Amino acid sequence: MSSAQADAAIQTYLDAQQDKDLLRFITCGSVDDGKSTLIGRLLYESKLLFEDQLTALASDSRRVGTQGEELDFALLVDGLSAEREQGITIDVAYRAFTTDKRKFIVADTPGHEQYTRNMATGASTADLAVILIDARKGILTQTRRHSYIVTQLGIRHLVVAINKMDLVEYNQEVFERIESDYRELATSMGVDDIVCIPVSALKGDNVTEPSTVMTWYHGPTLLAHLETVSNTDGKADERFLMPVQWVNRPNQNFRGFAGQIASGRARPGDEIRVLPSARTSKIAKIVTYDGECEDAVAGQSVTLVMEDEVDASRGSVICAADDPVSVADQFEASILWMDNEPMLPGRPYMIKIGTRLLPGAIAVPKYTVNVNTFEHIAAKTLELNEFGVCNISLDDPVPFTAYTENRDLGGFIIIDRFTNNTVGMGLIHFALRRASNIHWQALDVGKDTRAKKKKQRPCVLWFTGLSGSGKSTVANLVEKRLLSQGAHTYLLDGDNVRHGLNKDLGFTDADRVENIRRVAEVSRLMVDAGLIVLVSFISPFRSERLMARELVEREEFFEVFIDTPLEICEQRDPKGLYAKARRGEIKNFTGIDSDYEQPENAELRIDTSVKSAEQSADEIVRFLEDAGKLVT
Ligand code: ADX
Repeated sequence: MSSAQADAAIQTYLDAQQDKDLLRFITCGSVDDGKSTLIGRLLYESKLLFEDQLTALASDSRRVGTQGEELDFALLVDGLSAEREQGITIDVAYRAFTTDKRKFIVADTPGHEQYTRNMATGASTADLAVILIDARKGILTQTRRHSYIVTQLGIRHLVVAINKMDLVEYNQEVFERIESDYRELATSMGVDDIVCIPVSALKGDNVTEPSTVMTWYHGPTLLAHLETVSNTDGKADERFLMPVQWVNRPNQNFRGFAGQIASGRARPGDEIRVLPSARTSKIAKIVTYDGECEDAVAGQSVTLVMEDEVDASRGSVICAADDPVSVADQFEASILWMDNEPMLPGRPYMIKIGTRLLPGAIAVPKYTVNVNTFEHIAAKTLELNEFGVCNISLDDPVPFTAYTENRDLGGFIIIDRFTNNTVGMGLIHFALRRASNIHWQALDVGKDTRAKKKKQRPCVLWFTGLSGSGKSTVANLVEKRLLSQGAHTYLLDGDNVRHGLNKDLGFTDADRVENIRRVAEVSRLMVDAGLIVLVSFISPFRSERLMARELVEREEFFEVFIDTPLEICEQRDPKGLYAKARRGEIKNFTGIDSDYEQPENAELRIDTSVKSAEQSADEIVRFLEDAGKLVT
């Protein structure tokens, strides 16, 4: 089943259970801790299994046979066949089940460090975490890591299931020692809602039925606790917040803002404020799937109709008029990196925050955190499964809260602009003051005035291509021609800029991103100065070339792809660098052991192995004339 189908199946099931409330929880531990057995027993004993699933289980158990003649509960959860073969859990498996009191969704994620991203994904929507500890082993490195991940992701209710009590003779002292060790760990993480339960998942003690052996334990069974723990955490009593999902406008007479209430409650007559515009109005009525509603609370999906014509769209946040959230475009945040390719500081990524999707960039980390020891480590980037604290800046201000206040408005995901993969998730700490303290200085002389004086329309001619492709040679010729026609130009060349402004940068991916970011900013300033700017940098990555393009206006950027084949560049080898790279004396050499991502939509493509530099320059100058850039 695909995850979309699984989600749909879960949704259908939950819709059928509308009137019971829902607890989402996550289980943390490894297969060896008996995690799958525990969940399997929970599911089995809460009698939600259908006959055919049970029959399948019985025959699977006989086939795989890890538990003799008994049913192997692990097989219930390990649903995926790959998992059965490898004996490990490989992804976030969501299961829905129900008892007389409540509905549950359990996220079952693998416990190994390489699956940190899966656990964080499961934890990000969970209200509670069950941390499994093997009674024979006590607190392990993984226990610290699991606890760190779930508390970072905002889970405040922890259940410590101290399992395999049957293997330590149901000894009370063993249980109490682990409980006290764990409470110490939890205090250091600032969590105090902890319930420790001695269980034997295999034998069934204290899972759904109280143990008949551990009579010294007087607390609830795991299921009894899951059925009664609070899952709202007073969300309905907090300030009113609703991110707008879409504007509901079926006809001229109706206009409402649809979304899910993130916190607080709404009643007709309440004064509200729409952010970021800050316009105020009153709620005229609240419409839900079941008709009009007089009192809607956190978690409900509603459409709000206002008394006045207020402007709001997807991404706006509606909040109480007298207690609005803040709006900012720069934040400090914890970031968990989830992609195989490391995070590149300065690269524009798409950021999805609340219901808003917009470009943003992440700065060099202040530090990363060792998730096993909680130590802070200096770092230049974030690798797969690393947590770090970084500043981030967005292209526009957005309404937000700290993640600890509200997950919907304080959490964001990071998406790669080209692959569309989710590459990270972020948790906002606070907004950076400097963002709101720096204003644009209004100047009397503008780009148009400067350009008119020069009798030209400013633009960027961005040359990209391999080392030795002929970029600089052609750019140099183009500049000479433009100059002889009376144009005002400047040529920014990689080798030259790297001697000054960028002399602190090398050739790692991260340094190249920063190299291009700076040059793109400089070329923007030069366009503002009214110049025709020629930029000649390898600029190997699409993301940064797109960033440079987006810094100026649409008709001001022309990408010139000098598409000379690698073999020819290598034969030319004007600086002898290819030879060195082949001998292994230079690392990260473009085309050899560092990527070059070809432009897909360059305005001009020139192959200097079939055209002379003069012909190439002619073609580019003609192109500029046709584009009306040279007005004399
Ligand atoms: S970019 O990739 O960051 O855009 P840039 O254009 O500034 O590169 O610099 C490329 C120039 O640096 C090349 O023309 C070459 O002379 C020199 N160079 C030195 N080491 C490398 C390397 N590892 N990869 C590419 N170019 C290198």
